[in-house]
Amino acid sequence: MTDLFSKFDPLIEQRAALLETGITDPFNLVMDKVESPTVAICNGRRTILLGTYNYMGMTFDPDVIAAGKKALDEFGSGTTGSRVLNGTYGGHKAVEQALQDFYGMDHAMVFSTGYQANLGVISTVAGKEDYIILDIDSHASIYDGCALGNAQIVPFRHNDIEALEKRLKRIPKDAGKLVVLEGVYSMLGDIAPLKEMVAVSKANGAMVLVDEAHSMGFIGEHGRGVAEAQGVIDDVDFIIGTFSKSVGTVGGFCVSNHPKFEILRLVCRPYVFTASLPPSVVATAATSIRKLMNSADKRAHLWENSKRLHAGLRQLGFTLGTDEPQSAIIAVIMPDLEKGAAMWEALLHEGLYVNLARPPATPAGMTLLRCSLCALHSEEQVGEILGMFAAAGRATGCIS
Ligand SMILES: Cc1ncc(COP(=O)(O)O)c(C=O)c1O
Repeated sequence: MTDLFSKFDPLIEQRAALLETGITDPFNLVMDKVESPTVAICNGRRTILLGTYNYMGMTFDPDVIAAGKKALDEFGSGTTGSRVLNGTYGGHKAVEQALQDFYGMDHAMVFSTGYQANLGVISTVAGKEDYIILDIDSHASIYDGCALGNAQIVPFRHNDIEALEKRLKRIPKDAGKLVVLEGVYSMLGDIAPLKEMVAVSKANGAMVLVDEAHSMGFIGEHGRGVAEAQGVIDDVDFIIGTFSKSVGTVGGFCVSNHPKFEILRLVCRPYVFTASLPPSVVATAATSIRKLMNSADKRAHLWENSKRLHAGLRQLGFTLGTDEPQSAIIAVIMPDLEKGAAMWEALLHEGLYVNLARPPATPAGMTLLRCSLCALHSEEQVGEILGMFAAAGRATGCIS
């Protein structure tokens, strides 16, 4: 018998070698208690959270929590069914209406996760004879959506407008084309030149899908994302998003103005063949989304945090993923996995949690310490964070 697990041996060995150095497993941390969107207890120590996707700090919002508790009491713990059978409650309709209102779009379809939203919409919209043209640094859920469908896949260099145009021009003129982009790329925290890319896509007869997972709630005047900030939201055919970041719970969605959009509810397998979200989750999501519509002050404070942290880290001598802060994500580039893990652990001992990211999730084989800021991080906390980076950086030799 061939052991089907033998293909994982190199990874098993790499992991064992790392743990043999005595380092805390960076991919197995337990949050013993979560006190707020910015503070948790890890290994018995107060830890500032700088590696969550809780950009707008909605997880402990009293209105959000009250809505969840009420729905749990009134509708029970789960729907035990698909959206197309017994799994659509008033709450699912209400959260879809909240999304339509938030984006000012005609249609909204809620999935059980953002991963499934990409999986479902991409694989269903782009079929056998069609082409998907996607940024090479796209999220795994986008690649998996491509793999699930039967379209031809045409990747192009990250954020390269000319490369996108060249690929589009090579595809037969009459073929169906879907260009898939992200507003914010989550590894380096850089944003896409959507204005130019959407224009090039439209000029070449392509439909456009933008994943705004990391920009919803924060970027753009109304928090609708990078497409809003760059003035092209009306030209985008599909926006994909998630409830697991700024919304502060779990779930995914697609919004669109396409007149035939609703047919997806019958033909999209990752929507049909899975249970719908629990009533408490959709109730928290709807309440959170409606509050995000009126969160200009929080958006402004989050930008301040992002600028302050970016400038401070740079001043300390760290190499960052972007020259300027472009989003709520600031990536600190580490020389290799060993140094990255050592720095990650040193930060944890200081009382700071960040995300350690490594290939294949990262571009160009990079090891990153990804910092994601929250609108509820105070100015003092950002100062504390910089102090911890200074101490850990010197202790590990990452900075002098
Ligand atoms: C760009 C992007 N799209 C989609 C997803 C999936 O979101 P979810 O956590 O809701 O499955 C993520 C999650 O990290 C993401 O970064």
